[in-house]
Amino acid sequence: MCGIVAYIGNKQAQPIVIKGLKRLEYRGYDSTGISIYNGSALHTLKTKGKVSDLEALIAQHPEQKATLALGHTRWATHGVPNDTNAHPQTSNSGNLVVVHNGIIENYASLKKELIHRGFTFSSDTDTEVLVNLIEDVQQQQGVKLGQAVQIALSQVIGAYAIVVFDRRKPNELVAARLGSPLAIGIGENEFFVASDATPFIEYTKEAIYLEEEHLAIIRVGKSIKIRKIKDDSLAEPYVEKLQMSLENIQKGGYDHFMLKEIFEQPKAIQDTLRGRLLSDEGVITLSSLREHDNRFLNAKRILIVACGTSWHAGLVAEYLLEDFTRIPVEVEYASEFRYRNPIIYPDDVVIAISQSGETADTIAAINIAKEKGAFIYGICNVVGSTISRITDTGCYTHAGPEIGVASTKAFTTQITVISLIGLYLGKANGTLSRSQYQEYLTELSTLPTKVEQILASQTFIEEVATSFKTAQNCIYLGRGYNFPVALEGALKLKEISYIHAEGYPAAEMKHGPIALIDKEMPVVVIATKKGYYDKVVSNIQEIKSREGRIIAIVSEGDTQVKALADYCLEIPDASEPFIPILSTIPLQLLSYYIAVQRGCNVDQPRNLAKSVTVE
Ligand code: M6R
Repeated sequence: MCGIVAYIGNKQAQPIVIKGLKRLEYRGYDSTGISIYNGSALHTLKTKGKVSDLEALIAQHPEQKATLALGHTRWATHGVPNDTNAHPQTSNSGNLVVVHNGIIENYASLKKELIHRGFTFSSDTDTEVLVNLIEDVQQQQGVKLGQAVQIALSQVIGAYAIVVFDRRKPNELVAARLGSPLAIGIGENEFFVASDATPFIEYTKEAIYLEEEHLAIIRVGKSIKIRKIKDDSLAEPYVEKLQMSLENIQKGGYDHFMLKEIFEQPKAIQDTLRGRLLSDEGVITLSSLREHDNRFLNAKRILIVACGTSWHAGLVAEYLLEDFTRIPVEVEYASEFRYRNPIIYPDDVVIAISQSGETADTIAAINIAKEKGAFIYGICNVVGSTISRITDTGCYTHAGPEIGVASTKAFTTQITVISLIGLYLGKANGTLSRSQYQEYLTELSTLPTKVEQILASQTFIEEVATSFKTAQNCIYLGRGYNFPVALEGALKLKEISYIHAEGYPAAEMKHGPIALIDKEMPVVVIATKKGYYDKVVSNIQEIKSREGRIIAIVSEGDTQVKALADYCLEIPDASEPFIPILSTIPLQLLSYYIAVQRGCNVDQPRNLAKSVTVE
């Protein structure tokens, strides 16, 4: 949460930083700011609102020619979103500015100490405490900027990614991280520092992903020096070649990133399968599994930890992995798991699922499981992310950048990876027969085309959305594999349209929620042919007799549900374990169009951020 962009080099820094901040707005967008150093003076402008508000503010001030700037887009943790609490935060002397992503947990005691030493504070942020702590170290110990940052950070408890600038050191930026990501782009005599690589992708393909508890001293005209915060020892920088292209992170003619990402799903699933599913040869090549299959095959249990949509993918995994492998699976909210002293055995396999690979609760859950000796497998989308690096092994979804806050292609590609894992293990431990395995393999390769088919009903789904856009509540029902899809459908609707929505296993209706049904209540029922169809039809009848309005997701050619439901959205038939990849697509589109028709900002819904790097 919060996006950081800094530039030091030979180009005009302000436009680079502003453009970069726009790309990082998915990380937080309640307030924003920039500091620009023009060679003699440091100018800071901050405002509540979005980067476009900051641009408007900049336009009211004299133009600044500067080759150094630091910018920030915020998701508030300490202090309400307002101009004062926005970053950069400045030290008492005005010499230092800091942009920060994360939380300084012991900020209150540090602040007390600093007040005692004569420092004053104008904001409610933990970041203002940090910048003054660095200044205090400089004043007390007379050390260089890099060392002052290192000493200050060793007193800090919490998580951070920071960039620090000292106007007395105009050729230098200091960046450091613990628990929040930072990438350093290396250009020709210029450097970029950002929360991810998107702000500098058109300038350089070379980047260093800063390691946990590392600090980088970045000087123009010189190379980068990296030190470990704990003991100040030098670390060797590892320069990576970025695979991402500018096209990946632009809307490409779509009105919103979310719509683009929904429509990218056939390709994203194809990319997930590429080189891994060789259906003609009857082979799945997942080196991360092949190298460690004894850990999986000897596991008495698989534990899955994740949050939000990734947790829903974990629920699908529970059905699928148990079906395909007969290994017991438990799925946990990472946020609960981390605080409840979980029982973990050394022969457990823990699968952590995360699009961003930066979710704080999932990282904490992994660390707990690691301490207890479990083997950790990560399923991430963002290459080089924290989770991909702290797990024992894992598999990327290769869905490409997901920028819309609502997760779409991440979900379907996570389930695609899980299908590959299930098939691989089911074959290896003999749970799946040869013919069953081969049938599933062939079918998996047809999914991208089936998703394309569903996307072609876009216009009809848009029309259906019109009838439901004024709803205040909505219920989603599904059974078996479609139960997690019901949860996911409800999450998608509530997070982008602000309509209250709940997902339930269809059979749970009678245990309470049916009391809510009346003619005002839309009920979305996933009633595909495979998966307790007759039972779901009975549930639909129960809703119908209480005058609920029904939108059903049905299999192609269905007639029975069509006779009962107000609207039916068809999907192609598939084997039950693969249905979630298909049945979720119309629900994504439905939420999208309802939100658009309600005038909501679908890519940046209120109060949310794409990566939840604080707990
Ligand atoms: O990056 P992660 O997959 O770990 O993120 C987990 C959740 O924060 C995320 O899925 C969230 O629920 C989405 N906004 C849902 O669309």
